[in-house]
Amino acid sequence: MTGTDLRTASPEAPGTVSLSKFATARLALSLIRNPLKAMPPEIFSEPAVFSRLGGKMRVHLADPALIHEALVKNAHLLAKGEDVRRALGPALGQGLLTADGDHWKWQRQSVAAAFRHEKLLELLPVMIDSARRTGQHWHLSPSGDIDISHEMMRTTFDIIVETMMSGGHGIDIGRVEQSITDYLKPTGWTFALAVLGAPEWLPHPGRRKARAAVDYLRASLATVVTGRRQNPMGQTDLVSMLLEAKDPETGRMMSDTEIVDNLLTFITAGHETTALGLAWTFHLLSQNREEERRVVEEIEAVTAGEPVAAEHIARLTYTRQVFSEAMRLYPPAPIITRTALQDFTLGEHDIPVGTVLYVPIYAVHRHTALWNEPERFDPSRFGPEETRARHRYAYMPFGAGPRVCIGNAFAMMEAVAILAVVLQTVQLENSSAARVEPLMRVTLRPENRLMMQVRQRKNKSPVA
Ligand code: HEM
Repeated sequence: MTGTDLRTASPEAPGTVSLSKFATARLALSLIRNPLKAMPPEIFSEPAVFSRLGGKMRVHLADPALIHEALVKNAHLLAKGEDVRRALGPALGQGLLTADGDHWKWQRQSVAAAFRHEKLLELLPVMIDSARRTGQHWHLSPSGDIDISHEMMRTTFDIIVETMMSGGHGIDIGRVEQSITDYLKPTGWTFALAVLGAPEWLPHPGRRKARAAVDYLRASLATVVTGRRQNPMGQTDLVSMLLEAKDPETGRMMSDTEIVDNLLTFITAGHETTALGLAWTFHLLSQNREEERRVVEEIEAVTAGEPVAAEHIARLTYTRQVFSEAMRLYPPAPIITRTALQDFTLGEHDIPVGTVLYVPIYAVHRHTALWNEPERFDPSRFGPEETRARHRYAYMPFGAGPRVCIGNAFAMMEAVAILAVVLQTVQLENSSAARVEPLMRVTLRPENRLMMQVRQRKNKSPVA
């Protein structure tokens, strides 16, 4: 598939879908309920789909060559845009995920050192310990039934606060997790209203609760910043990097508000995504016991039956493939959005200023022209040869180009470590009666709680 055989030949050509009032209302309803269902169905089999809505041209891109051209080659002509600012701005302000231009660049450079490979390797023991504590907690729980998304969120939250904020000192993990959920819950409304061009002040369900959640989150993190300004701890972590960051052009340092923007960005972007990727992985393994058996065999072979340790993680290649395949089927960040800052050409298409570009990762990963039997769980797709044979942008759970996820390597290391520690000692079995369906709330979660039964593996101590 190339960028030149598009069914919808050009933005203003007959292929462009202009929605009727009825279709627009239906689309708005889908956006509110589950934005995944608002993707044009053709994008699962076509290279691109153009539409016009709320007075703006909107383009869904699935062709890897076009995605490369948009997110990598023309990255400087694109910004995060109005939809993203309205949905995430109230919480994340002008932090790394939401900022654009020079302000983004300066922030990215300021924290890059925290994500260097050698630095990440130092964090592995913390990741392993956290996963182990989760296993111990399950052993102590009398019912044996757990909500796997919640359990994974607690584990990855623990890790992000410990590794990036040296423990966070006094942050109430339970309340922070609940506040993030309260904040994300009405984002379907925020997106729908933004897409329809409705004014930002318009009330909608969940808005008040979301605002209270943001106030709580920002106030907790402001306390951490004040505490660290008064009492610097002398170690290098994300907080100290942000406190010391200096704009190379102006010498300006970050205000407390800007530091809170970034701490909240890293906490939300850095724990939900990996946790949900893991919850989906455990779900898929419980449906695919042969693949699970191979993972457990690999863990046994690499660890020689000893408890999982930092030096084992890089050698757990099949476990890594399993996590990659789970993120193909259920990408934790299912859509990337950009807005054109000026007129430009994409492939053979004129893209006018203000056009909203969507890269629907969820659809790219299930595209019929890119994947054989796209719905089938098959970790062998991520073997070295299979990966080499594929277009680089047919698979992109972490995005692409200069805005690619800064926590990409952190997340992969963390996920493999957690999978290894958990699967070494227990087997998880789906115990939910409800159908398991993905729901998009910025990230991709199971629509209903994904309950799992914890079973101890034979001859395995729960606290290994
Ligand atoms: C499986 C886990 C993860 C997934 C699937 C994921 C996915 C993504 C994606 C798709 C983007 C690009 C968004 C865009 O282009 O608009 C992104 C950006 C980002 N991610 Fe992640 N992420 C994960 C884990 C993490 C972790 C562990 C951290 C931090 C420790 C993190 C921090 C960030 C930040 C700060 C950005 C913004 C980067 C920038 O714009 O320069 N993410 N992530």
